[in-house]
Amino acid sequence: MSVVTATPPAGIANANQSNSRKVLLSVRDVLKVYGSREAVTRALDDVSFDICEGEFVGVMGPSGSGKSTLLNCISTIDTVTSGSIILNGRDITQLRSRQLSKFRRDDLGFIFQDANLLDTLTGFENIALALTIKGEKADAVRTKVERTATLLGVTDVLRKYPRQMSGGQRQRVAAARAIVADPKLVLADEPTGALDSRNAAVLLETLEVLNTKLHATIMMVTHDAVAASYADRILFIKDGKLFNELRRGDNSRTDFYQRILEVQAFLSGKQGSSSAVGFVASHVTALGN
Ligand SMILES: Nc1ncnc2c1ncn2[C@@H]1O[C@H](COP(=O)(O)OP(=O)(O)OP(=O)(O)O)[C@@H](O)[C@H]1O
Ligand SMILES: [Mg+2]
Repeated sequence: MSVVTATPPAGIANANQSNSRKVLLSVRDVLKVYGSREAVTRALDDVSFDICEGEFVGVMGPSGSGKSTLLNCISTIDTVTSGSIILNGRDITQLRSRQLSKFRRDDLGFIFQDANLLDTLTGFENIALALTIKGEKADAVRTKVERTATLLGVTDVLRKYPRQMSGGQRQRVAAARAIVADPKLVLADEPTGALDSRNAAVLLETLEVLNTKLHATIMMVTHDAVAASYADRILFIKDGKLFNELRRGDNSRTDFYQRILEVQAFLSGKQGSSSAVGFVASHVTALGN
């Protein structure tokens, strides 16, 4: 199970809330080794955790700690060296290539750092893609695309091409594309990385809506404590190991944000430094929660 490699300072330990929801994703004893002989990297080193249906989980950790590797193994873009990843009762590390493409198409939604829309398709066509590939009827596609676009506030860019949209609109179209086919799990790797703070807030509020209104289960990698504060729970990774987790519980987003900063400061060895304190002071007022 979770290997905690260091003891966090008092006050930032896991709140250990009970959770009676059904487990959707179960990562067990996952090891991912890159390279061989003299240049071996243990990108994931015996990682185990569960994510329940309807949770919004953030993944944080220093650069090179294994966050993207973890997401890539769950999305089956990459393969594990050993261990299992069970989604909805099925070990996805054992899928063969045809089952893999079906799994990616039907069960997963992706949101990347740069929206990754297809330039030659309109907003509508980009969002509709997953449904079209599945062979859904045109009427059903239109209904689902329009419903999702309304939810994410992008109905007025459905006829536009990505180059005619703002960065924030592109990200919201990408979020619509990720969820239009009702995936079991939405994976996002630094989804706000390329956005200014206003558009980042719009995207995060969008993810929050997906989670609370549509009950989407979301796993989001981020280095940004503000982005992470939108999640219910944060997994912290260091040197490929699960280091700690924080649950938001009944805390306000501002309080959760402060606790996240404390763990981040601890992880980077800067706990109590004036830079961490200054960072808290300059960000907390901006949160308004
Ligand atoms: N294809 C690869 N071949 C060899 N080593 C790799 C490969 N991909 C990642 N690594 C190594 O695995 C470790 C984890 O990388 P990963 O990309 O998961 O980090 P990360 O936490 O996402 O970092 P960042 O915050 O910088 O995106 C790093 O040491 C990296 O150099
Ligand atoms: Mg990464």
